[in-house]
Amino acid sequence: MSLLTAKNISKRFGGLQALTALDVTVEEKSIHSVIGPNGAGKTTFFNCITGFYHPEEGEVIFNGEPIQGMQPDRVADRGIARTYQNIRLFANVTVLENVLVGMHRHLRTGWFGAVLRFRAPGARKRKHELRR
Ligand SMILES: Nc1ncnc2c1ncn2[C@@H]1O[C@H](COP(=O)(O)OP(=O)(O)OP(=O)(O)O)[C@@H](O)[C@H]1O
Ligand SMILES: [Mg+2]
Repeated sequence: MSLLTAKNISKRFGGLQALTALDVTVEEKSIHSVIGPNGAGKTTFFNCITGFYHPEEGEVIFNGEPIQGMQPDRVADRGIARTYQNIRLFANVTVLENVLVGMHRHLRTGWFGAVLRFRAPGARKRKHELRR
């Protein structure tokens, strides 16, 4: 089973057909690139996968579960992290730490611990795992 399958995705903005019957399959532990000229529909595709846009047609399956129509926070809960075309990086931390910010939903620190700056049990080990 593929980790991510997008089937027959079509997205229209008024009279402009941005995506037409797009199929994409991503296997676990693989790296893919989406390339194309300006306006090709790359960002629209990412927005459809991550719940920012809802395609008129098609299906997105992540980890065996249909996720199309879900709101972005629900999609993020399931493990899809993204960045944006106009990025706002944290200037005072490293590149790696900027990437790790995208995983904050999957870290275990609660608001109480965050306010009082407690370290969650096993935090050091977990931090090490995330960096791998
Ligand atoms: N919210 C929107 N409303 C109307 N049209 C849009 C919207 N978002 C994207 N489009 C149009 O859809 C098409 C695809 O745009 P998209 O931003 O996905 O392209 P892209 O491949 O990411 O381009 P770039 O390389 O410039 O980032 C373009 O014609 C764009 O103008
Ligand atoms: Mg783009």
